[in-house]
Amino acid sequence: MDRFLVEGGRKLKGTVQISGSKNACLPILVASLLTDDPFVLHRVPNLRDVRTTLKILTALGKQVSFQDGTVTIAANGKLKNKLPYELVKQMRASFWVAGPLLARFKAAEIPLPGGCALGARPVDIHLRGFERLGARCVMEKGNVLLSAKALHPAKITLRFPSVGATQNLMMCACLIPGETILENVAKEPEIDDLAAVLSKMGAVVFADGKGRLVIQGKSQLRGMEHTVVADRIESGSYMLAAAATRSDVRVEGCVPEHNSILLDYMEEAGVPLEIGPNYVHIKPYDTPIKPLRIKTAPYPGFATDLQAPWMTFMTLATGAAEVDEDIFENRFMHAPELVRMGADITTEKSIARINGVKSLSGAHVMASDLRGGFALLIAGLCANGTTEIERVYHIDRGYENPEGKLNALGAKVTRYNPDKDDF
Ligand code: UD1
Repeated sequence: MDRFLVEGGRKLKGTVQISGSKNACLPILVASLLTDDPFVLHRVPNLRDVRTTLKILTALGKQVSFQDGTVTIAANGKLKNKLPYELVKQMRASFWVAGPLLARFKAAEIPLPGGCALGARPVDIHLRGFERLGARCVMEKGNVLLSAKALHPAKITLRFPSVGATQNLMMCACLIPGETILENVAKEPEIDDLAAVLSKMGAVVFADGKGRLVIQGKSQLRGMEHTVVADRIESGSYMLAAAATRSDVRVEGCVPEHNSILLDYMEEAGVPLEIGPNYVHIKPYDTPIKPLRIKTAPYPGFATDLQAPWMTFMTLATGAAEVDEDIFENRFMHAPELVRMGADITTEKSIARINGVKSLSGAHVMASDLRGGFALLIAGLCANGTTEIERVYHIDRGYENPEGKLNALGAKVTRYNPDKDDF
């Protein structure tokens, strides 16, 4: 398995180009199941989760090509409505095929999903929504069996604004003729990108920006061409890498508005930055980092996916900071690894208390989830000495060419595989 060796203590300088959003891409690729027409998607990041999604589409009977950031999907005979566990276990977002398959076949069989081990991650909100649209949902031997004589539009209020449930129900409702209203939905930019795609496919999707989606579903949807929105989590991760190393980095090709809260907090912590229409320039500074208390929340709140990179930044603050992780349980797996690098962090249930230290030191650490993995990478860039990060495959799920992007900024990150004699 690949590892990273990170030589710490180097300042970063230059411009980093942001890729298309992983979390927008995955449901959009899955939306291709709603039609037999050709489907073309640009600015698709070359990531493990994207490749897993393409394998899922192929397993379901689509013909897929992926070249230079463009995915083309076409019909290839009859679609299947069953997914093998081998593919689902790699990624929670594989469950997002349930909505389109249910809409098309009135029956689907999907194993319960895997993905990052972030506590119990149920799919009850997805299933309650499918039931409201007329489906029967049964669990059998680790699989969810969905079936319906007929589906019908409905008014559904989600008990929590789950991103995945919102996307799954949107896709299903778009292929049910009539008006479905979804209340208390997620408001993430990835939802807007999916709504734009579903509208191009012929459905009418209206988001009021306050958590209400009104969908006019159609009996048939057509193919489309679309360019994926910038990845706000990758953008935020590089902004935090620059801030934590006190570097001079222009994060380009992003939508700064999608990182509003993060940018506010970074400024409050003392990071000088310039915000442009499609870039954020993090400037070098030598004043102390102000410790802050943050709490993760659904968009537009502080993104849970940026909590771990933020925590690395706060390990170097002057004083006591706090992180309240309010979206996922068990999302502090990076904390003990940061402690091995000299950070002073204690966790209790959803709260992490961080007492800032003067510096971090290189250590042998292990990534145990995607964003926590990038947090360790930032820590390695800040630390004195060399850091070795195991299980880089977590980072590869969601960051396109991280060592290439960081090394172009002057970092020294080397990928190697101890099981092969290539080092
Ligand atoms: C998506 C993102 C992930 C991000 C998360 C929250 C993708 C592919 N992944 O994940 O990067 O961290 O949003 O912003 O877009 N929940 C339930 N029942 C459900 C569904 C969710 O209890 O049926 C809970 C989850 O366990 C979790 C919380 O709701 O505690 C948020 O989950 P959700 O918004 O659904 O996250 P994902 O869509 O899985």
